[in-house]
Formats: sequence, C-alpha cells, structure tokens
Amino acid sequence: MKNKLFEHLTQYGQEHLLTFWESLSDLEQQELATQIEFVDFAQVADLYEHRDDPAESLTLADRATDPPAYKFSTVTDPTPCKSRKPVSFQEAVSAGQEVLHQGKVGAILVAGGQGTRLGFPHPKGMYPVGPVSEATLFQIHFEKVLANSLRYGYPIPFCIMTSPATHNETVDFLEQKNYFGLKKEDVFIFCQGTMPAVSLENGRILLDSKGGMALSPDGHGGMLAAITRKKTDGSSVLDRLRQRGIEYLFYNQVDNPLVRICSPEFLGYHLLSGSELTSQVIRKRFPTDKVGNIVEVDGRLYVIEYSDLPEEVARRTNQDGSLKIWAGSIAVHLFNADLLDRTSKIAASLPFHIARKKVPFIDLATGERIKPEKENAIKFERFIFDLLPSAKNAVVVEVDPPNHYAPLKNAPGSPSDSPETVKRDLSEMYTDWLRKAEAVVDEATPIEISPLFADSPESVGQKIAKGTRFEAPTYLFCSPPHFN
Ligand code: UTP
Repeated sequence: MKNKLFEHLTQYGQEHLLTFWESLSDLEQQELATQIEFVDFAQVADLYEHRDDPAESLTLADRATDPPAYKFSTVTDPTPCKSRKPVSFQEAVSAGQEVLHQGKVGAILVAGGQGTRLGFPHPKGMYPVGPVSEATLFQIHFEKVLANSLRYGYPIPFCIMTSPATHNETVDFLEQKNYFGLKKEDVFIFCQGTMPAVSLENGRILLDSKGGMALSPDGHGGMLAAITRKKTDGSSVLDRLRQRGIEYLFYNQVDNPLVRICSPEFLGYHLLSGSELTSQVIRKRFPTDKVGNIVEVDGRLYVIEYSDLPEEVARRTNQDGSLKIWAGSIAVHLFNADLLDRTSKIAASLPFHIARKKVPFIDLATGERIKPEKENAIKFERFIFDLLPSAKNAVVVEVDPPNHYAPLKNAPGSPSDSPETVKRDLSEMYTDWLRKAEAVVDEATPIEISPLFADSPESVGQKIAKGTRFEAPTYLFCSPPHFN
C-alpha cells in the first residue's frame, strides 16, 4: 500500500505525509490512506500556487454601488434604501405566511465551525446563552423552528450542518435532548467536508499527528456541496427536502440567537421581488466597519470583504451624506432550493478563499508537535455568500441589530460578541417586548422569553396582562408540546 501511496503523492510533492508510516499501526495506516484518498491534491497545488492573486472582489470595488434593499419593519433608521420594486410590510407578511402555510419553507443551521475565538471545548451550539434559563444556542434555534411548525401547521424540516470537529458531539447532544421537541425525522444532520492546511512556506500539507493531516472544515460555503452530496441511496439532503415540497430554505449560523428564523416578512420581500437569494444586512456604523459589504456591480450582488474594500471607495457617500457602501452582511440568507441545485453543479460557483493561520503541526525531523507563535499555514475555505452573483434578482433586507443580531464569537470577558454581551442583548430585547406589551420591568432585571412562549411584542401582549410587574429575573416559557 505504501508504494502506491508514495507514487501518487510524489506527483504533487506531498510524499512527506508518509514520513512516519512505519511507526503507525495497521489501523492508523488505513486511516491515513483513507484521508489521502479524499484529498484533491491537484486542487490544493493550484490553490497554493495562486495564493497571492488579488481577490476577485478587488476588481469590483471601484464599480460597486449600493444594493437594492428593503427595510425590515423593526428598523427605525430613516435613511432611504435603493428600491427595485416597492413592497409594503403587509404585502410581505401575507406573501411569507402563504408559503409557510403551504409548507414550502425549510431551515438550515450551519454549526460546523471550530469556534476557536470562543475557546469552548464543545460545539458552539451547546454554549448556554439564555440570560435566565441558560438555554443553549441549539435549544433557542430548535424552539424557534418548533414554534413556527406549530403556527403554520407542518413540520418545518430543520437541517443542521456539522463538521468532523462538531459532528459526534452535536448528534449525541441533540439526541439526548430529544431534539427539543422536534421529531427526529424532521431533523437532517449532515457533515460538511474538510480541506487540508498547507505550509505557508512551501505548500506542503501539514501533519497534525504522525498518522493524520491537519484538516479543517471547508467553510460555511461547504454547505452547498454537503447538502447536495448524494448518499448511498442516491439522494441528497436537498433531494429529500424537495420531495417534501420545500422550495425555500432559511439559512442562519449557530452563533446568533436573535435571528428570526423563517420570518414571514423576510420571506415576503424575497418572494415579491422575485429574488433567488436574499440576505439580511445591517447598516454600517462607519466606512471601515469590519463587516462583509454587500454591493451591486453591473446588476449583480457581491460581497466585498472589509479587508478588500479600498478606503477611498468605503468613504463614498450619497447626496444626503449617507454611505454608498452601507450594507454589512450578518449571514442570514434565504435561498431558493432551485438555486442551490443549479449552482451545486457548477464547480466555480464557490471559489476558495485563503486564510493565513497558526496551525499546530508535526516536525518531520523530530516527530514533535509544534505550536507555532506566528502564522505558518494557509487554510482554504468557501463562503456561502459567494452564491450572490449567481442568483437572479438578489436583494438585501436591512435589519436592526437589537432585534436581529447578537453573535457569540469571543471568549467570556471580551468587550464585544461575548457570552455577556449576547445575554445582555437577549435580555434587552425581551424587556423591550414586555414594555411594548405595557408590562413594567424594573431596571436591570434579566428577562428571557422562550420562543415557544412568544416570538414578538404582539404575542407577548396576548399572554401578559398590562401592568404586570417584573422585578426579579424571569424566564417565560412553556414546555415543548410534541409536534404531530
Ligand atoms: P465563523 O467564521 O465565525 O467561525 O463561523 P467560528 O467557528 O464560529 O469561530 P472562529 O472563527 O473559529 O472563532 C460563522 C458560522 O459559520 C459556521 C460556524 O459554525 C458559525 O455558525 N461555520 C464556519 C461552519 O458551519 N463551517 C465552517 O467551516 C466555518
């Protein structure tokens, strides 16, 4: 077996992967051989060779302008957006509710990331963020899907993308929690692919152990390949969703508990504008805000990373002084199932991006595992928002962070996007809902509302009597009914 592998690897200058072959057990040798079989070495070589090519988006920046947009009803900022086709709030909600009542909407949660910044030794979805109940991110997302399933009268299929880094623990956790009230057959858990990390210096794939490559998840864009990958029965997860009549897929990331999963208003803007891909954005606070910028170039939408947006372009303003490039992606999207099917058949739909990272590796001379002090490696990742230019009539919907966006990215104690800021933002939103329902909430009283209890100020108002006082930490919830 070694000779065959050696011959194969030599073509790509990767034969060092067998340095420790003789010291491996039979099982370890078999595992390494399987890893090698799944790597496209020609692709890795090509990506490394073009590592310093300028990002394609750089060539777009100069022609970039603001994207066509709608404003979500909770947004109070009056700055006008460019409109392609006016749609009122009522029209949007009715159109969204109609496809929900018809059972045509599914949901995808991507949860394959390694969560390195958070530094939690489990999948991020298991992190407790409920400001009173300590509910995990997974619980909050599952309850939202269950609440919508009950409201619209069909089991909304809920797809969870994991990676080898998060798969087993996620499966065990969800099983142990009984899918938080969803039925097992309505939860589709699938694992994304991986890419090897290569040495920055010479493009050689790094070893993470004597018998294993340094592999990491291939980015949230890995969702496209993973959801359309045919299983042994010949069908993919996307095929199974379509067999159930699913035409639209709501996409969000595991780290944002404020997301309004399957919001009918968001769906409505997507449907009535004839869009194949609609993305939620927040208004940038200043020109160099560190967000992915959604822009329009020649009638198509693109994301330009903040690092690729020249400052001169970022500073351009409209006549009223507002920023031309204002729309920051928050990674909440709505896809037509047809778009995913079509683009999955075109290899170039999602290019790889390169990221320079510190990746621990085995020193080939000594066999020791080294933790580098500075960036030593390149990782390759695909980003799902790169589907935007392939989508017909793509639009964005502006949302306001207090009602839609509080991501968990950083470790406890960090000044932003940390467990403390997420809990605070959740509690502030729920307090605001109660106050809108004319309840009285004492200052600095932590409040949490389960999505199964209410999902808007209006629905809180139907359950809480006006004037009700909240003076101690409160969790409003109801137990998950079993969905039939
Ligand atoms: P981030 O890029 O913020 O990565 O992912 P992360 O893993 O959460 O955290 P860091 O950067 O290592 O600290 C945004 C979302 O995309 C998912 C993550 O799970 C998260 O929901 N993701 C990211 C994947 O599902 N797969 C990937 O390969 C990368």
